[in-house]
Amino acid sequence: MSRPRVFITRAIPEVALERLRASCDVDVWEEMLPPPYETLIARSRGCDGVLTMLTDRIDAHFMDQAGTLKVISQMAVGYDNIDIAAANARGIAVGNTPGVLTEATADLTMALLLAAARRLAEGAAYVKNGEWITWHPTVLLGADVSGAALAIIGFGRIGQAVARRARAFDMRITAFSRSLTDEAAAAHGVERATTLQDALRMGDFVSLHVPLTADTRRLIDADALRMMKRTAILINTTRGGTVDQAALVTALRDGTIAGAALDVTDPEPLPADDPILALPNALIVPHIGSATIATRCKMALMAADNLIAGVRGEPLPNHVF
Ligand code: DGY
Repeated sequence: MSRPRVFITRAIPEVALERLRASCDVDVWEEMLPPPYETLIARSRGCDGVLTMLTDRIDAHFMDQAGTLKVISQMAVGYDNIDIAAANARGIAVGNTPGVLTEATADLTMALLLAAARRLAEGAAYVKNGEWITWHPTVLLGADVSGAALAIIGFGRIGQAVARRARAFDMRITAFSRSLTDEAAAAHGVERATTLQDALRMGDFVSLHVPLTADTRRLIDADALRMMKRTAILINTTRGGTVDQAALVTALRDGTIAGAALDVTDPEPLPADDPILALPNALIVPHIGSATIATRCKMALMAADNLIAGVRGEPLPNHVF
């Protein structure tokens, strides 16, 4: 019997490739940049499965052109780049990698929160640029984290992991999520905000943890930013599309809010002339929430297991519905 054929859209950790090669014929896209859409189609044509990244556009046209796909296995928890309804309609299983990146992403959220509050990027540049000529009582003053109010928008695995960390910093935590009950909030040691607006109003720090969907696209728009405290810092480690970035640039420029710390932007990557890059109160890192060696290995293995199950016609260990 011929072995299943799979296309992997980027070089993934070797441990996962080995697992895949044991049972499949594996074609890997080795370039730094993602395969262009037409190349993605050409290399996937006739394959039983594809292992995709959040940078790949996986739409109905792709699925029809690829022709023989049984499974799309995404190496990410988020899958807003995949047309799930189109996959369901074609009987193509879709997998993702929930859980294994929760702690790494929550760690990065706290790193961004602390870095923005205490102006770490500015401080590091100040030292490197030779501006550090003395200790001074009013230079590089930031915001207190201990005792500050944290609003967590979206209270799934990652939001909850951020709350656990924030408690250790003696933060006062409010969470907003449509599905959060008073009982669940109490069990996690957080206050439940009944509306997004209430959460936005109370946060010294506002951290976003909702997936990108039609409902959450530009959830944080000019109105939402105006509801936040003028001293507030917005942290985003989910998807850039949850924030109206043009409105955020205006809000950061005119002092509607004090700062933003972003792991995700819209678009990604940012063009060199994007106005947000010129703002001293925007700290931006390149979508590295899950970027630890151990986490990326776990994600790749999980995606490999989903792919192997899918090409065999078995239920995926982590299936997106
Ligand atoms: C995800 O998994 O969705 C992250 O954004 C990348 O790890």
